[in-house]
Amino acid sequence: MSTALELAWAHYVRLARQEQDRNGRHLGQYPHYMEEGRWRRFPIDATSGWVDDSFYDHGNWTAGFAVGQAWLAAIGDPDHHATVATQTTALLDVATRASDRTTHDLGFLFHPSFALGEQLGFLTSDAVAPAHEAAESLAARFNPAGGYLQAFGPADDPRSRGTSTIDTMMNLPLLWWSAADGQSDVRRNAETHARTSAREFFRPDGSTYHLIKFDPSTGVVLERGTFQGGADDSCWSRGQAWAIAGFAWSYAVQPVPEFLDAALTAWNYFRGRIPDDGVVPWDFGAPSTDTTGDASASAIAALGALILSEQVESTAHSAELRSDAERILEQLSHHAVRQDPAADGILLRSCYSKPHGLGLSGALPYGDYYYGLALALATGRIDLSRLTGVSSQREKLEQ
Ligand code: GLY
Repeated sequence: MSTALELAWAHYVRLARQEQDRNGRHLGQYPHYMEEGRWRRFPIDATSGWVDDSFYDHGNWTAGFAVGQAWLAAIGDPDHHATVATQTTALLDVATRASDRTTHDLGFLFHPSFALGEQLGFLTSDAVAPAHEAAESLAARFNPAGGYLQAFGPADDPRSRGTSTIDTMMNLPLLWWSAADGQSDVRRNAETHARTSAREFFRPDGSTYHLIKFDPSTGVVLERGTFQGGADDSCWSRGQAWAIAGFAWSYAVQPVPEFLDAALTAWNYFRGRIPDDGVVPWDFGAPSTDTTGDASASAIAALGALILSEQVESTAHSAELRSDAERILEQLSHHAVRQDPAADGILLRSCYSKPHGLGLSGALPYGDYYYGLALALATGRIDLSRLTGVSSQREKLEQ
């Protein structure tokens, strides 16, 4: 294991604990994005909705990451376990969103908080009941005509019924976790959604669209484009990263060959576009004069590459994926520094939404969380099988 990654992990744990203390002083208000070095915090009850016919507000979809980050910071430190379990319980008002029917982001709200909490031994199976309810709420957004999980808005809202985004792929881990035992609508809907996404979201060059609009009655694709990217025909880097990690995770749980192909296709496109400092542009089609980067996309992609390294058959390919992921994490560690010790956040230089002019350069809750999760995997603090509930494809090959 590289010393640089060990140091990066130790530094992450220090910063994550500082973040946890701060979050404890802002109970009910969760980091959402950063402006001028400070979190803009959102209340847990900010649900998503249309502000008017042209603007959709995602609401608070990020609260779960603060909890997940606190769990990560307590791994391997029995002294800290009791503290974190007590302090973090106060952040579990995420549970109040379990029956929220307005968003696909329930996976982001409930996997890092409740599911990871159980996987790491902080929460009992009784305590995670709200996350199973949230999985039912998410799976109920399935549109049978198109075979997709509706992304935006209430299920019956005509402005939203046809929407599907690439981000949903990384909400699926909640469904895979909740439906780990056998067949159920939750698991079937996750698999069908992933199959549809693998078929519909990719361009011939391996880049992904961010947003697809289906005819919700017939399932026919009406439009392919973007919500947070630079243009309908450009590639929003975080969307590409959600595709890498989401398909890789799905393949690890449900080894459908199309999921592996999709993850590797998305990764190969991303891999060739990583600059020397590890921070990809916010959109791969942005002009070279636009210096806005998105370190969160790089962190999510590194996580995806690590998962893939445990799935591919070829030993050489596995080693290459792992080495690429480690290199990105080492590069990112240079952006996980605070010039001002009182400043918020961990992984700087991320971009929330350039088209909406929000959080253009600073940390993001999911950048901080997935950077930590990737470091935990890369340094052996967590086994992938703990996250997915199954042995990796390479472990099976080696048995
Ligand atoms: N899921 C929305 C985003 O990545 O900003």
